[in-house]
Amino acid sequence: MKNKEKKLKEIINHLKSTGFVFQGSEIYGGLSNTWDYGPLGVLLKENIKNLWWKEFILKESNNYGLDSKILMNPKVWEASGHVENFSDPLIENKINHKRYRADKIVEELFPEINAEAMDNKKLEKFIIENVKEYDGSKTNWTDIKKFHLMFETSQGVVEGSKNKVYLRPETAQGIFVNFEKVQRTMRAKIPFGIGQYGKSFRNEVTPGNFIFRTREFEQMELEYFVKPENSDKAYKYYVDKTTNFSTKIIGIKEESIKLRVHEKEELAHYSKGTTDIEFIFPFGWGELMGVANRSDFDLKNHEKQSGEKLSYRDHITQEIYTPYVIEPSIGLDRLMLAAIIDAYEIEEDGRIVMKLKKDISPYKLSVLPLSKKYHSKSAKKVFEKLIENGISVNYDEAGSIGKRYRRQDSIGTPICLTVIDETDSKGIITIRHRDNMKQETINIDDLEKYI
Ligand code: GAP
Repeated sequence: MKNKEKKLKEIINHLKSTGFVFQGSEIYGGLSNTWDYGPLGVLLKENIKNLWWKEFILKESNNYGLDSKILMNPKVWEASGHVENFSDPLIENKINHKRYRADKIVEELFPEINAEAMDNKKLEKFIIENVKEYDGSKTNWTDIKKFHLMFETSQGVVEGSKNKVYLRPETAQGIFVNFEKVQRTMRAKIPFGIGQYGKSFRNEVTPGNFIFRTREFEQMELEYFVKPENSDKAYKYYVDKTTNFSTKIIGIKEESIKLRVHEKEELAHYSKGTTDIEFIFPFGWGELMGVANRSDFDLKNHEKQSGEKLSYRDHITQEIYTPYVIEPSIGLDRLMLAAIIDAYEIEEDGRIVMKLKKDISPYKLSVLPLSKKYHSKSAKKVFEKLIENGISVNYDEAGSIGKRYRRQDSIGTPICLTVIDETDSKGIITIRHRDNMKQETINIDDLEKYI
C-alpha cells in the first residue's frame, strides 16, 4: 500500500476506534460511502459549525441566518439550471462494464492537464486516444454520457412525475427563494448576506476518499448580495475571509492550503469567477471550499420562473437593480477531515496526538482523579462545576493516569486537570498540556480565570 493511502487508512481506523466516525449501517454490512459521526465527531462538527455561524453571521452585522428545507418546489431546480446542467461526465469501459467520471480519469493519469476545463467531446476524444488500459483492465470506451447528480424522490402517497421532488444539491437555492422575504422583514440594505448550514445530496458517480466525497454531506453557505459594481471587492473580501477562517479560526496550517482560481472553461454554469481553497489531503490536493461570484444569475432566473419581483430598490437613490451575489461555500465534512488530517501526529515513541485547535477539539478539558479510589469525589465536583459553566469537558477515571493522558491526547483534548491529594487539603490541581506534555499546578480558585 502506498504511504499516502496508509496514512488515510490509519487515520480512519483511529477515528473509528475512538468514537469520531462509524461506518454507516455497519451491522448490515454497511451502505457504501456512508459514515455516521459518533459522540466525538458530533462535538467536533458542532464546534466547527458554531464557529462558522459566529464568523459569517454574528460578527457581520449585515448578515442574517436562515434554515430552509431540503425539499423544495421542483421549479426551483429548473430555474437554477440544475435540472439541465448538474451532471458529471460518465464513461464506461465496455470490457469490464465499470463506470467512471471521465474528468477524474484524466486528472489521475495526466495531472498536468486541467480536465475540468475540457468539454465532454474533448474529454471523450482524449480518453479514447490516450487511455488504453485503466483500473487493471484493457479498455474499450463508450461515449461520454451526462450523469445527472440530483437525487429524486416522490412526495405524498402517489408516485409519479407529478409528485417528483429533489433532495437539494446545494443549500444556496433556499436562500435565493427567500431573498425578498429576508430583505423586507429585516429591512436589510444592500450589501447584506444570508447564510445557512445543512444537508445537501448528490448522487456522485465516484464517491470516496472517506468523508471527502459522499452522497449526503453538509454545507455552510453564505450568499452575500451586493451592487454589481461592488462585486469584485466583495469577492476579494470573502476569499480572504474564507481562507482566514480555515487557518486562523479552524487552525489548519497555512502551508496545507492553497488558492486555485478557476479557468473560464471550468466555471460552473452560474459563475463569473470562482476561487477554490484547496487542501493537501493524503490523496493529493483537493477542493476544501470555494468562493464564487454568481452574478445575478440566480435571482434573475427565479424572477423569470416564478413571476415574483426579486430586484432591489436603493432606499436613497431609488435605483432599482438585481444584486450580484458572492458565495463562500464550505463543505463541513471536508473541513472536518482536513482539520483532523492536519492535526494527526504519531510521535517517535508511538504517542498519537491530535493537535486540534482548542476551539474545535471535542473536549476543551478532561478531569481526571489521580486515583479513582481516593480522588473521584473531588474530581466529580470539579467536573460538574465546569459543565455548569458551559465548558465541553469529559471525566475519565478508568485506567492508569499515563494511559488516560494518552487517550485524551489521541482525541485532541488540549488540557487534562488532575485532582490530587493536595486538591482537598491545599486547593491545588495539576494541569497537563497535550502538545508539550508539560505539567504545572495551579490553585483551583484560579481555574476559571486560567481557562
Ligand atoms: N453552492 C455552491 C456549491 O455547492 P460546490 O463547489 O459544488 O459549490 C461547495 O460545493 C462545497 O461543498 C465544496 O467545496 C465541498 O467542500 C462541498 N462538497 C461538494 N460536494 C461534496 C460531496 N459530494 N461530499 C462532500 N462535500 C462536498
